[in-house]
Amino acid sequence: MNNFYFQVPTKIYYGRDCIDNIKDELENSGSKVLITYGGGSVNKSGLLERIKLAIGDGFELFECGGIEPNPKMHSIRKGVEICKQNGIDMILAIGGGSVIDASKAIAAGACVDFDAWEFFGGPRRVIEKALPLDTVVTMASTGSEMTCGAVISNEETLEKTGRSGFPLFPRVSYLDPTLTYSVPRHQTACGAADIFSHIFECYFNRDSNFDFLSRMMEGAMKSVVSNAKAAMENPEDYEARGNLLWTASWAMNGLFAGGSRQMWSCHPIEHELSAKFDITHGLGLAIIMPKWLRYCMEEFPDTVEKVSEFGANVFGSKDAEGAVKDMEHFLYTELGLSDSLGDIGLEDIDTRELAKAVCSGGAIRGYCELDEDAVAKILADCK
Ligand code: NZQ
Ligand code: ZN
Repeated sequence: MNNFYFQVPTKIYYGRDCIDNIKDELENSGSKVLITYGGGSVNKSGLLERIKLAIGDGFELFECGGIEPNPKMHSIRKGVEICKQNGIDMILAIGGGSVIDASKAIAAGACVDFDAWEFFGGPRRVIEKALPLDTVVTMASTGSEMTCGAVISNEETLEKTGRSGFPLFPRVSYLDPTLTYSVPRHQTACGAADIFSHIFECYFNRDSNFDFLSRMMEGAMKSVVSNAKAAMENPEDYEARGNLLWTASWAMNGLFAGGSRQMWSCHPIEHELSAKFDITHGLGLAIIMPKWLRYCMEEFPDTVEKVSEFGANVFGSKDAEGAVKDMEHFLYTELGLSDSLGDIGLEDIDTRELAKAVCSGGAIRGYCELDEDAVAKILADCK
């Protein structure tokens, strides 16, 4: 066990109609509020109007809509511009991980006189300040509502990088499971795969002597499996949607890391894929995870025991090979996600080039060390 500190300052309102608290929480935060949202689901569901009504009079509202999945710098620059031109006091993000991450970048970008990309690429400047940010979560996935991290894509350089900084923690986040009822089937599956992956990446670490956390993670992954299936069958299953939503927040907020040395393996590979080909994050992870697990077992036989334990406690698998098969069954049969890059039209990708980009900062020193050859092999297996 290693020493660590754990601090999550975000205040959470959870449950049906919890957004009714927005107005009270906005009081004393200034009068100019920038509302950020995505490509239209908040208009279609009527959520944007409902929130504006809930805020009521006494605030000057500005809008920055159209934030795309895998949020791009042009959206962030647009948001920063609105903030600077109008002296925005705070941001209210309504959406999934993309809108929340973009809003974090806007919140930080609004406080500096250089381009916000400099936090994520190039000099990777330290994030010292950000406008206050509240979030209304509309899909269970990244957990960004309770973390100080953001993942941003640069459409000019085709880079996608994550950055964290304490000022990026949302001040307040609202989690109402009913707001996720309208998430389409495929996005529900991608979100579930992403939640699962966040726990999975923490679970496979080399300091796994924190029994309390290992057992919690197995329980959390088991819960994602059963609740994802339930939400796929009945999109308006309150308990299933609610379990996914709350698990998503806790999967990413540092609880499961528990001081273990963490260098994730599947995420950096996926981020390179979505940077270059704009694929959905959870889908990319679903394709990669089982192949990564197989690679670990083949090249590092000492991992078999842990994979076997994972399978037994999450899926009730008989052995390590059964664990991978059961995971594939969950991802590809029950969630209905694609099992290969070929299946999503990426059969011709140059795996060597991609592997080079993934390892541009050196090998991935995670659960099993992955150099360029290893990443190329995993990607070839994904084809
Ligand atoms: O844009 P709209 O119209 O709102 O539609 C969105 C979008 O098309 C739709 N959606 C969301 N809530 C909905 C809904 N549709 C109907 N009803 C609702 N209630 O879902 C689509 C996907 O949304 P998006 O926000 O892109 O999904 P997600 O939450 O999975 O976020 C993915 C992004 O987060 C990054 C990913 O790389 C990707 O860029 N990540 C962020 C992390 C973090 N901040 O710590 C960690 C993650 O590992 C991940 O990398
Ligand atoms: Zn993720």
